[in-house]
Amino acid sequence: MQALVLVGGRGTRLRPLTYETPKPALTLVDRPFLNYMTEWLGRHGVEEVILACGFLPDEMRSVLGDGEPGGPKLKYLVEEETLGTAGAIRFALDHLDERFFALNGDVLADLDLTALWKQHEETGARATLGLYKVEDSSSYGLVDIDEDGQVLQFSEKDPDRTGPGLINAGTYILEREAIAEIPPGREVSIEKEFYPSITGKGLYARELEGYWMDFGTPERYFDATWDILEGRIQTEVVTNSDGVHIAPDAEVDPNATIGPRAVIGPGVKVGPGARVNGSVLLDRSEVGANATVEASIIGPGVNIAAGDTVGDEVLGKNQVGEVINA
Ligand code: GDD
Ligand code: MG
Repeated sequence: MQALVLVGGRGTRLRPLTYETPKPALTLVDRPFLNYMTEWLGRHGVEEVILACGFLPDEMRSVLGDGEPGGPKLKYLVEEETLGTAGAIRFALDHLDERFFALNGDVLADLDLTALWKQHEETGARATLGLYKVEDSSSYGLVDIDEDGQVLQFSEKDPDRTGPGLINAGTYILEREAIAEIPPGREVSIEKEFYPSITGKGLYARELEGYWMDFGTPERYFDATWDILEGRIQTEVVTNSDGVHIAPDAEVDPNATIGPRAVIGPGVKVGPGARVNGSVLLDRSEVGANATVEASIIGPGVNIAAGDTVGDEVLGKNQVGEVINA
């Protein structure tokens, strides 16, 4: 089985972390974010993942490579211009199976893709969307369905429709022949153009239960981190007795206080008397003696000087502070 993953976005809400690292390649706890997705896809039989790239494709490739041993193989397609969510899938046409999964590249999820596939086959749909129930649908695509799962209406981020609802979880099963009808070579949105155009013509959906999160903002980055450390998503991660993840080669002074809630990345140094809580220290960052870091993401190679206090900050590589060997 094959999955196409849309990873062409700029991840603007996670700047400065995403200036040089595309969102799917950002470290989440102990691995690039995309690895959680390939693990999940692998559990549902996916063997090949096509990454539809636009922004920073070389960085993506250098971080993600061919994929994890035993997991789906990664293949890269690079758009020279912005094609939008449907245009990017159309661009991949020659590489697509007859029937394939397509996903937004920024969802951390553990939904039942096998059940979605089964419904898709039973209905003979041209496209089937995984839906997820949320309390506030306004920042998502809201989807109305009938009792057979046929989509009645797809409303992308409609400011007039707030409150609870079933939203598009960015998890699709698509027929290649339907994608072939998308006009090539121009920007096309799957949400605003393609799905409305096939509503009533073979567009189905199904609510899925389980874990789901769109990983787009610093708040969500933290939520996702604690959900992983605290076992709310199925994956293996090493934590100490305080539930903190410390990379094996990190150097944490015995007189530093770490946690509650923290990730200490590879090559990180934390000095004596320093305090780190509710924070993520990405690779090779340093926290000097008696410095305090709270509710912050400290980017790769950023140096927090001795005695400094950092709170509620997202510091990216080359953005703030003194950057060492980044
Ligand atoms: N290759 C490529 N080319 N990828 C793209 C492009 C493009 O032109 N535009 C966006 N993407 C990728 C992004 O990288 C991201 O992984 C995905 O498509 C969705 O784009 P976002 O910018 O994250 O959209 P959103 O979060 O505002 O809304 C989407 O996701 C919601 C669920 O998280 C929509 O699909 C909503 O309907 C949905 O509810
Ligand atoms: Mg998104």
